[in-house]
Amino acid sequence: MSFRDFPAFRDLRAFIRFLEQRKLVARISEPVNLVHEITEVHRRVLVAGGPALWFDKPVRTDAAVEMPVLANLFGTPERVAAGFGVGLARIPELGALLAALREPAPVDGFKDAMGRWPMLRAALATRPQNIPRPDCQADRWLGDNVDLARLPIQTCWPGEPAPLITWPLVITRPPDSAPDETSRMNIGVYRMQALGKDRAIMRWLAHRGGAAHHRAWARRGEDMPVAVAIGADPATILSAVLPLPETISELRFSGVIRGERPRVAPALTVPILVPADAEIILEGYVSATETAPEGPYGDHTGYYNSVESFPVMCITAITMRRDPVYLTTFTGRPPDEPSVIGSVLNDLALPTMRQQIPEISDVWLPPEACSYRMAIVSIRKSYPGQARRVMMALWGMLPQFNYTKLIIVVDEDINVRNWQDVAWALATRMDPSRDLANLGSTPIDYLDFASPEAGLGGKLGIDATNKIGTETRREWGKVLQMSSDVQRKVDAIWQKVAATIQKGAA
Ligand SMILES: Cc1cc2nc3c(=O)[nH]c(=O)nc-3n(C[C@H](O)[C@H](O)[C@H](O)COP(=O)(O)O)c2cc1C
Repeated sequence: MSFRDFPAFRDLRAFIRFLEQRKLVARISEPVNLVHEITEVHRRVLVAGGPALWFDKPVRTDAAVEMPVLANLFGTPERVAAGFGVGLARIPELGALLAALREPAPVDGFKDAMGRWPMLRAALATRPQNIPRPDCQADRWLGDNVDLARLPIQTCWPGEPAPLITWPLVITRPPDSAPDETSRMNIGVYRMQALGKDRAIMRWLAHRGGAAHHRAWARRGEDMPVAVAIGADPATILSAVLPLPETISELRFSGVIRGERPRVAPALTVPILVPADAEIILEGYVSATETAPEGPYGDHTGYYNSVESFPVMCITAITMRRDPVYLTTFTGRPPDEPSVIGSVLNDLALPTMRQQIPEISDVWLPPEACSYRMAIVSIRKSYPGQARRVMMALWGMLPQFNYTKLIIVVDEDINVRNWQDVAWALATRMDPSRDLANLGSTPIDYLDFASPEAGLGGKLGIDATNKIGTETRREWGKVLQMSSDVQRKVDAIWQKVAATIQKGAA
């Protein structure tokens, strides 16, 4: 039993075939350079809401390129939803499932979730399937044959120091786990700067799952075994990006989304499992001690990150399927692919937010504000001061709002996804001397160079709700609205009126 609208996609190829049937993949036979040109083509197509891009002839001046490149896979919200197995309209249902997993009383919440979603019980309880001779190990580059330069790794923006693996699914486990203990595995996407044939920099931010595992291995003085999948079935990719509760492994959760048990196989040279149907796998160890300066690279804010040191991975094997395709993307000023995914994750997270703060009607983290730095929240307001309570609750209770430096609270009649509505609320329901809540020295994204200190900065809440009770002594405005009687009458004559207008315009 599964909530899916679409069949299970066992691998990336099955998903591509599905998209091709719907004319959502464009094959590009023109040679396009991996240095900057793929980014520029991708950027233009993404802005236009265009298809996934299959580059048959990616080229690079300094090396022969052996395989095609796939970009813009999740370039529209509809394709992201399809990756989850559903039409866009059913994303909130999937969000309700995630909310149940996060119930504050975990035991009851979990039981309840199990009752409501029998397939969840089946999927989370089922161990992944071990696949002998997995497709992802059909071709093997070992020893001296390990060479990152043979992969079509993109250089996205001018001034970047080296090719960058942009869609790696980085698989790690803590040192006190067994190699096949899939429930303790973490999968996250952390960009990787290529350093020659067999080394790459692992750029995980300090609060990521992979970074926490690495700290635990480093405390023991041991290098950490790691596997990196490039190109996998959409459920595995999207699970890696989802902010899942710590207690739920991305691999197991991918089975819930896919409606099929995850298929895994032992890596050839390191003690860890890999997704059996992935296109390409890098195996190796992340050093307990060695770091290297990473960047500067363009990131999702639209700026270059400053150079910082991150741990180095030594690659012991590169394995792949026959005729693999290399999955890539770029990050840059929104819209980019992560911001499109973010807009779907916004709706996926809504039921969780409503569960914690029931008066919330809708929330929008505008992609153009980097998907998390600003939030517009509408509430069903019933008492004075409620907008501030909601701001505090969002900042205090929900980790995804840690770095949200501006929250605008509006009433339920305002569409949070429509800037014209929000501007009207700000212009008519907000007074700067009363309705701003300004906090200093709060946690801020350390990538935010506008904050006075790295990692520490201000937050601003704007209450643009109608003021009620003791919030105002003035007579408050009454919203203009045509009577429903008049609307009905005009509806009845509308076709005739519209035809007359059209005739006049012709
Ligand atoms: C295309 C893309 C690139 C990303 N790059 C990075 C990155 O370089 N470093 C990082 O820490 N997070 C990056 N992220 C975000 C994380 O992958 C994401 O937050 C994930 O949920 C983290 O998983 P974790 O909590 O298991 O560590 C990226 C996400 C996407 C979609």
